[in-house]
Amino acid sequence: MASTKIKINKHLDLSRLPKHIAIIMDGNGRWATRRGLPRNLGHKAGCENLKRIIQHIYDLGIKYATFFTFSTENWKRPKEEIDGIFNVVRQYLDDDGSQFVERDAKVIVSGDFTKLPNDLVESIKRIVDKTKNCKKFVLNLAINYGGRDEILMGVNKAISAGKPIDNAEEFSKLLYSKDLPDPDFIIRTSGEMRVSNFMLWQLAYSEFYFTNTYWPAFSEKDLQKALIEFQKRKRRFGSL
Ligand code: FPP
Repeated sequence: MASTKIKINKHLDLSRLPKHIAIIMDGNGRWATRRGLPRNLGHKAGCENLKRIIQHIYDLGIKYATFFTFSTENWKRPKEEIDGIFNVVRQYLDDDGSQFVERDAKVIVSGDFTKLPNDLVESIKRIVDKTKNCKKFVLNLAINYGGRDEILMGVNKAISAGKPIDNAEEFSKLLYSKDLPDPDFIIRTSGEMRVSNFMLWQLAYSEFYFTNTYWPAFSEKDLQKALIEFQKRKRRFGSL
């Protein structure tokens, strides 16, 4: 989490920001290919951008942020690319460990991270444990995450407990996101207009924002522009 100084757009109302913002960081590969670079350099650039954007979300005072880092479907990619993604994630967690604690920022993970390589599992456990008492900010990394798998996990927990679930709030407590509010705002970069198995249960009333910008190029200014758009939406949650 490197520190940034950036102007706040005069159209952005800092008193009406989402509580929880979730981002599908898409377009790393195309960003690199456009520049004649290997795809893994796109993931490295994506990671650098993740640091900038997390810092900015934190500086704006948004408390919860979720980033789609590795999906249950990403295992279909070549091993070299998968290893490259895991390496940047591991380096990020190892290098930024003390900065999270300094900023009172808690790191949690959504997804079955136990299926990841041992060194990454160790890095995840270390950062989660180190930051478990932090309170100001929550960074939720969706790693080896799939929305359908998460719902199945909840259903199986309910079956094991042997009693029916009475309402949606109760079911939410069986999911990875049990301690987070649902995301108010979901951003997907790179021009794709899909949900891709992301937070399927939690997105029931989320506002969506799609931009053509590839993730490594999505700047703090772009984030503010998206947030201004969020503030124009009329959220009715099913009422009039
Ligand atoms: C999608 O772009 C991106 C991913 C599958 C990986 C996202 C991972 C990072 C940004 C690494 C940093 C993460 C952390 C938590 C340190 P794509 O490869 O699908 O792009 P394409 O659609 O252009 O091929």
